[in-house]
Amino acid sequence: MLSDMYETHAYDVLVVGAGGSGLRAAIAAAEGGASVGLVCKSLLGKAHTVMAEGGVAAALGNVDPEDDWRVHFKDTMRGGQFINNWRMVELLAKEAPERVDELERWGALFDRMPDGRINQRPFGAHTYRRLCHVGDRTGLELIRTLQYKAIHCGIGVHMEVTLTRLLLDDGRAAGAFGYYREDGRFVVFKAKVIVLATGGFGRVYNVTSNSWECTGDGIALAYEAGAQLMDMEMVQFHPTGMVWPPGVRGILVTEAVRGDGGILLNAKGERFMERYDPVKKDLSSRDVTSRAIFLEVQAGRGTPHEGVYLDITHRGPEFIKKRLPGMYHQFLRLADVDITKQPMEVGPTIHYAMGGVRVAAETAATNVPGLYAAGELACGVHGANRLGGNALADLLVFGKRAGEAAAAYARDGSAGRIDEHECDVEAARLLAPFEREGGENPYVLQEELQSAMGDHCGIRRNELQLSAGLGRVQELRERSKRVSVRGSRLFNAGWHTTFDFGNMLTVCEAIVRCAIERRESRGAQWREDYPNKDEALGKVNLIAYNDGGQIHVTTAPILAMPAELASLFEEEAADVGRRA
Ligand code: FUM
Repeated sequence: MLSDMYETHAYDVLVVGAGGSGLRAAIAAAEGGASVGLVCKSLLGKAHTVMAEGGVAAALGNVDPEDDWRVHFKDTMRGGQFINNWRMVELLAKEAPERVDELERWGALFDRMPDGRINQRPFGAHTYRRLCHVGDRTGLELIRTLQYKAIHCGIGVHMEVTLTRLLLDDGRAAGAFGYYREDGRFVVFKAKVIVLATGGFGRVYNVTSNSWECTGDGIALAYEAGAQLMDMEMVQFHPTGMVWPPGVRGILVTEAVRGDGGILLNAKGERFMERYDPVKKDLSSRDVTSRAIFLEVQAGRGTPHEGVYLDITHRGPEFIKKRLPGMYHQFLRLADVDITKQPMEVGPTIHYAMGGVRVAAETAATNVPGLYAAGELACGVHGANRLGGNALADLLVFGKRAGEAAAAYARDGSAGRIDEHECDVEAARLLAPFEREGGENPYVLQEELQSAMGDHCGIRRNELQLSAGLGRVQELRERSKRVSVRGSRLFNAGWHTTFDFGNMLTVCEAIVRCAIERRESRGAQWREDYPNKDEALGKVNLIAYNDGGQIHVTTAPILAMPAELASLFEEEAADVGRRA
């Protein structure tokens, strides 16, 4: 019997990942009457969600009453350069305000306006002041609130567990196999439905705001189970990460600094964003701002550590310490820089994956029956470039939808059957690195992959570089077959890295293959050999899928926007025409 062989747990709904989307899905599934298990690779509460520091975008219209879901919809579609799933964007823009209100009812303490309503700050490419925030620690407050709510819904929490395989019954999700990171003990989860919410894959690059957990595990699990991936080439560089000292390179410097008045300057003291985006300037979209910083550095106008300056000293110490306490302490402690007196040195850092698992807009269902995906690992809302603050809105809106849909699916179905032999095969695969002697070191391979991605598939791309990058990924995949680890399964970080690395390879190959196929420049995909947009590519998403163990890329047409949504853009053009 399975449970004689492996520790086994059974739930209606298994949620994998305990960041904002996982927690929100777990709450919704539990409220929908399902028994819910929540598995996370790290400790509960430690999630990349906290790196969305500056706020959650929701058109409450508190500060700017002209704002409403329609403007949010248009900003997001424009930011994503129209390859977004318009239905997901519509849902995001319409439902984000209610999700924020709900968070407040659950105890989140947002910053206030003098009249007591939630305050909202400006952010890049949002027409109005739209970001509800808690200083520069919004993601943290969101996680704190959701975690508190979730654990009071009676969910089963399994921390520090790595899942390495989704188990299918006749093509339908039936459970997952993995191990406890502490002692390597194997564990099987049976579930009628699985919601993947493991976040992104920033760690496949060498300069990133993401922490060690973000190795694309959920994306690789879904892909192996037969789910389609979409627009994997769309990887977001946040314009402002720390660049100095080396040990902190990549750590996020929130966009809220610019939202609250910070300006970007090159080494000559020029406010260079005036040249790249004369209208929005420092609050341009992230793709434009990151490219601008890259070009300034390339042109020799960068700082000593190959960044640019971000200056907010003119707002004065009281304002800075009140509105941006995290940034104040971060720079003081990590870089010995007092941002009330000195500018920060910043540069682009990998922050977010717009690409990921393809899902249905309403339910977050993947193409694998019984498998759902929400949050950063799911693709669709953000198109070619995400607007700041939309990640938190996304995970609240689609986390809830995924949890509700999962509970409904579980209500209607019985549990699938788990094949014990499949578990044995997986267990043997996991133990294989201990059997090899003197093979490849997983840390070395991981570092080589991260450098290869930075060198070959960074901000600026071209066919030659990308093809060489694909070659590097393939070479590393071959070498990964010879990985060996020493010691036992107890606290064995090298052993864990082996499986992270396998997931990273899948993700990287999909990114590079899609980046090669998108022969145009759009949003985060900047092809110097194809500097313009291609009209035909603006009408499709790229789909990567598993075809007999090989990653194949094809296209899927983007459905036409319904007339009432398309007309929002026409009305605006007419307004501009009338004003001119
Ligand atoms: O800059 C930031 O605070 C990040 C926000 C986001 O990615 O949404």
